[in-house]
Amino acid sequence: MRSNYCTDISEKNIGDTVEVCGWCNNSRDHGGVIFIDLRDKSGLIQLVCDPFDSEEAHNIANKVRDEFVLRAKGKVRARGEGLENPNLKTGKIEIIVDELVVENASEPVPFVIGDNNVGEDVRLKYRYLDLRNKKSYEIFKLRSKATIAARNLLDSKDFLEVETPILTKSTPEGARDYLVPSRVHNGEFFALPQSPQLFKQLLMCSGFDRYFQIAKCFRDEDLRADRQPEFTQIDLEMSFCTQDDVIEVTEALIKEMFKACGHEVQTPFNRLKYKDAMETYGSDKPDLRYDLPLIDVMDIFAKSSNEIFSNIAKDKKNNRIKALKVPNGDNIFSKRQMKGFEDYVRKFGAAGLGYFQMKEEGLKGPLTKFFTPEDLEDIILASDLKVGDVIFFGAGDKKVVLDYMGRFRIYLAELMDIIPKDKFEFVWVVDFDMFEVDGKDIKALHHPFTMPKDLDAPVEEMESIAYDIVLNGVELGGGSIRIHKPEIQQQVFKLLGISDEEANEKFEFLLDALKFGAPPHGGLAIGLDRLIMLLTNSSSIRDVIAFPKTQRAQCLLTNAPSAVENTQLRDLGIRLREVKKQL
Ligand code: AMO
Repeated sequence: MRSNYCTDISEKNIGDTVEVCGWCNNSRDHGGVIFIDLRDKSGLIQLVCDPFDSEEAHNIANKVRDEFVLRAKGKVRARGEGLENPNLKTGKIEIIVDELVVENASEPVPFVIGDNNVGEDVRLKYRYLDLRNKKSYEIFKLRSKATIAARNLLDSKDFLEVETPILTKSTPEGARDYLVPSRVHNGEFFALPQSPQLFKQLLMCSGFDRYFQIAKCFRDEDLRADRQPEFTQIDLEMSFCTQDDVIEVTEALIKEMFKACGHEVQTPFNRLKYKDAMETYGSDKPDLRYDLPLIDVMDIFAKSSNEIFSNIAKDKKNNRIKALKVPNGDNIFSKRQMKGFEDYVRKFGAAGLGYFQMKEEGLKGPLTKFFTPEDLEDIILASDLKVGDVIFFGAGDKKVVLDYMGRFRIYLAELMDIIPKDKFEFVWVVDFDMFEVDGKDIKALHHPFTMPKDLDAPVEEMESIAYDIVLNGVELGGGSIRIHKPEIQQQVFKLLGISDEEANEKFEFLLDALKFGAPPHGGLAIGLDRLIMLLTNSSSIRDVIAFPKTQRAQCLLTNAPSAVENTQLRDLGIRLREVKKQL
């Protein structure tokens, strides 16, 4: 129906007759001449409906309201002097309309398209209107470009795109499953895949060698700004590969996706051992756009005359004392703020938050009395303190201290506004622990199919060939070299407290497949939504998903989840314990 998209028309077209289609963004009547800003996916152009040019078009324009769907034909002309709009790409021109068609009317819309002050609930209820704004369109354009670039890159490297089932058996990735009841087998359930993990491993057993999929995954877990119950992974798997092979392909993939969106990314990315990331940044997904490392002061605090500190410092295996230096902090923070910091870390289990201020005359602070002048000098040296600096320190259980000091690091960086917004700082976190041990409770840190480095190592110290790719403090993706021998897999299940019976019940097909000549293999999955969120500097993952769920895992647009007809439940052999809503 159109000859041009709105913003493809420029001063070059002056004198041309064009035909454009779109929505009325707004209209104004200026002394009998009606001006309409017409909007399509490309942006806006001004239509001028003057009764002297076409009385019919002017009469129609009179009835046009916001969000009416229009088609207009007319001549492009330069705007009069002083009437140009520098904020519009088409601000120097306008179309003198001689034919105007209302393709569809619109009732008054619940909010002005593109208005940022509208509550998210309303925007999600009318998501299709929310998506009419140009910013959203640009996000989805980038998402499309990045996805196509990913497909092409993987295709060029001989990866085969294969679809794996959505109705499947649960694969344990640490979250709850979404279940789908079976009608044919009453009382039995499918699970929606948390990831295609086991199927991609089976494809390696089939000799496919290199697989990928842009895969929908489903996880019933607590939602956060970077989590959705339904999300997309770029999932890949390779046979006869090492960790370096997977890393190399992933770096090429990320480079290509960013390039498609106009960003140059330098590869290879740095690598950081999991243990070092935890010790230095208190996180397995450190944001390296800024420094603020945690400094170990265990040895110095061991000599303190304060028994609490010296006792904590004695148990190097289970405890930590970590200092965080804030250059010039003494001049940045007020006493009240410093007190507030303590309240912040207490929320994450800290008993308190000590601090020293570096003054001309040396270290000052309520706790200096517990240290000899030599020890204080050691603290200054260990943290390389200059006059005006402040160091905060946390002491106690290793896991707790690393966690709250890591969070405090981020909190301070945000408060001091030292995080560069336009930087992409990638890092590989490698050599993850195999297990997360909490007393007698042993869980796989990645998933139970990850290859341990040395199966004979003590459980607490066992490392795995697992790696995460982290961007600006967000876990973008993760993967591992897998166990390809049944006896190792069985041993790992045993360490996880999964009995032979349970393992057989849940994973018989995998254990069988490993018996029939499974090749060495490994892979990784990147969270596509998260990647696009970071690429487009969006503050929420919901902004980059066309029809997202709320934080409470609901779709406000369709009102899902919702009650179903009783007959549907009867077919499935399901009776609800409490009938919430009867249809
Ligand atoms: P993992 O569980 O680490 O690994 O997931 C890989 C990546 O998927 C993204 N992701 C999510 N994105 C949005 N919402 C969620 N709820 C969500 N959960 C995960 C993250 C994450 O880094 N099968 C393994 C991969 C492998 O080993 O090959 C897996 O799924 O960006």
